[in-house]
Amino acid sequence: MISMSKNIIVTGGLGYIGSHSCVELIDHGYTPILIDNLSNSKKDVLDRLCKITGQNIVFYEEDIRNREALDSIFEKHHPLSVIHFAGLKAVGESVDQPARYYSNNVKGSLYLIDVMKAHDVKSLIFSSSATVYNVDLSPPFTEAMPTGQVGNPYGRTKYMVEEMMKDIAATDASLSMTILRYFNPVGAHESGLIGEDPQGIPNNLMPYMAKVASGDLAELSIYGDDYETIDGTGVRDYIHVVDLARGHVMALDQSLKSTGVNIYNLGSGDGYSVKQVLSSYESACGNVIPCKIVGRRPGDIAASYADIKKVQNEMGWAPTKNLDDMCQDSWRWIQNRGKAS
Ligand code: NAD
Ligand code: UFG
Repeated sequence: MISMSKNIIVTGGLGYIGSHSCVELIDHGYTPILIDNLSNSKKDVLDRLCKITGQNIVFYEEDIRNREALDSIFEKHHPLSVIHFAGLKAVGESVDQPARYYSNNVKGSLYLIDVMKAHDVKSLIFSSSATVYNVDLSPPFTEAMPTGQVGNPYGRTKYMVEEMMKDIAATDASLSMTILRYFNPVGAHESGLIGEDPQGIPNNLMPYMAKVASGDLAELSIYGDDYETIDGTGVRDYIHVVDLARGHVMALDQSLKSTGVNIYNLGSGDGYSVKQVLSSYESACGNVIPCKIVGRRPGDIAASYADIKKVQNEMGWAPTKNLDDMCQDSWRWIQNRGKAS
């Protein structure tokens, strides 16, 4: 019966955060229905998810901009809610290929919302980013701080979708729109079966560090040691991907009971420098990770970390894993990655 559905559409469900969230959804009695066009993920993640959860997970290899396909998936599964991870996320690439980013991230979200409306689905949870906060702000960032002065097209796509969700929610009081602003998701599932698997040379700190630790890359470049931070290197708010995934289940529970627009930061609330992360990763892998100091990376800010009081007070969510857990779980995944699922 439709009213008994626990089906949740998960776009981008084979990606890094989507796959971990799929495990948590199943653990909490939901039935994720995954849609992914495999533009930044591999089909074998599905086998690994089935292995972790012991379930046959429904998966559609589709692009969310294929409206007809979306329609028939919604028609078949009558979802309760949608968790929308599908998107392109490389900042540098978004500068070189802005139209591709606007099409994928903005148009894709609009199509999805349109299909939700056609099928009377009221609840949407969206993957936004700390990057939407105005570039001139000082941390900790609260959800009430101004957004929109963003330094790159990727960030602008996130800001635009947030604004779109607010405008659409204002036209229909029965809608429930949740915006989750992630800080820096890292780490991997403790099984070592799923984790972050970027194609090519990683842009982000921990995946790059992991490849140096495993010998795939020669050395880590530290982008600047002259920031006004604890040791001069950039400070970020790293959050374990499993804590982040749990945040989605709690946001979903809440979304199904509420209406309107709800915005939450998901971070640990603590900032760590590049050197602090390096030291924790060296402990995790038991080796010295070769590195050199180079100039600042254009567009980087000195420090970014979240104020997480709102999500703690309103959803009862709190991070459970620390930086050492993040590095240990990342390292376990890196060592396991090549092994058959
Ligand atoms: P990811 O690339 O691992 O996962 C995204 C998934 O979406 C991929 O599997 C990709 O194949 C799929 N996808 C992309 N475009 C699609 C389309 N048009 N149709 C269907 N599938 C499509 O990225 P992630 O790290 O898991 O990020 C998930 C979401 O969270 C993204 O929207 C990202 O912008 C956002 N986010 C990520 C971070 C981060 O640091 N990882 C930080 C803030 C926000
Ligand atoms: N860093 C290095 N060397 C590297 C990579 C990164 O020193 O090889 C440093 C950066 O300068 C920064 C810190 O490590 O100080 C973290 O950098 P990441 O690239 O891992 O993360 P960012 O916070 O810069 O970027 C992330 C996401 C973006 C998002 C942004 C704001 O990757 O998509 O957070 O939310 F826009």
